[in-house]
Amino acid sequence: MDHTIYDRRRYPIVGVRQGYAEWSRTYEATVHDEMDVRLLERLRAVDWSGARVVLDLACGTGRIGRWLRRHCPAAAIDGVDLTPEMLAVAERAGVYRMLRIADVTATELPAATYDVCTQALADEHLADLAPLYREVRRLTRPGGTFVIVGYHPHFLMAGVPTHFDRAPGESITIRSYVHLLSDHVKAAHAAGWSLLEMDEGLVDDAWLAKKPQWKAYAGLPVSFAMVWRALPSA
Ligand SMILES: C[S@@+](CC[C@H](N)C(=O)[O-])C[C@H]1O[C@@H](n2cnc3c(N)ncnc32)[C@H](O)[C@@H]1O
Repeated sequence: MDHTIYDRRRYPIVGVRQGYAEWSRTYEATVHDEMDVRLLERLRAVDWSGARVVLDLACGTGRIGRWLRRHCPAAAIDGVDLTPEMLAVAERAGVYRMLRIADVTATELPAATYDVCTQALADEHLADLAPLYREVRRLTRPGGTFVIVGYHPHFLMAGVPTHFDRAPGESITIRSYVHLLSDHVKAAHAAGWSLLEMDEGLVDDAWLAKKPQWKAYAGLPVSFAMVWRALPSA
């Protein structure tokens, strides 16, 4: 579903490449670890330290890559993203073996390569989840895991799309789509994944300390994490 039927902010809307090209300049200073890193830290089903080859999909500026570098000390970490300006910042992070400009739904990377694939805060930009789960299943070795962390559909439905400030007081929305959690389950099952673990993050005191203006959203789910295991191919 297009996010605009829920949108209460009504900021101007731009596409992914244009939006993140602009946001890349301030992105790191404006995204809070409560959204995704806090959920990654809570997961128990992922063998981070045993991973040898890891792919960070929609790696952006390398925030998750830096977290992976600490938690997967033995791994080579690759990254893909659609936005060159975000990848330029990721390059400077110095944690990736290889970075490539690519769509997460068609990476052209070799099949059955990765022990762990991650994707944080990007599924809301995909019109359809099925190509994502199919492509990541193709890239992951049987028994490997896909960790997806996303902006919660309930929060999008509460009227807050993914947005950034182009300038003080000039907010811009990056085109987003609402995927129910059941949409993830259906797309993942069809692509050969089995759910190992799931978690959700709420707007709690830690959030409100950083974003007091979110008081009206206190208690709402704002992000989710799912850990999928790649079933053997049929
Ligand atoms: C909110 S940022 C998240 C970046 C990083 N994962 C993080 O958590 O900081 C979303 C990223 O997804 C990327 N993106 C969106 N749609 C994409 C697609 N179809 N293929 C590849 N990257 C995509 C954008 O370019 C952007 O860098």
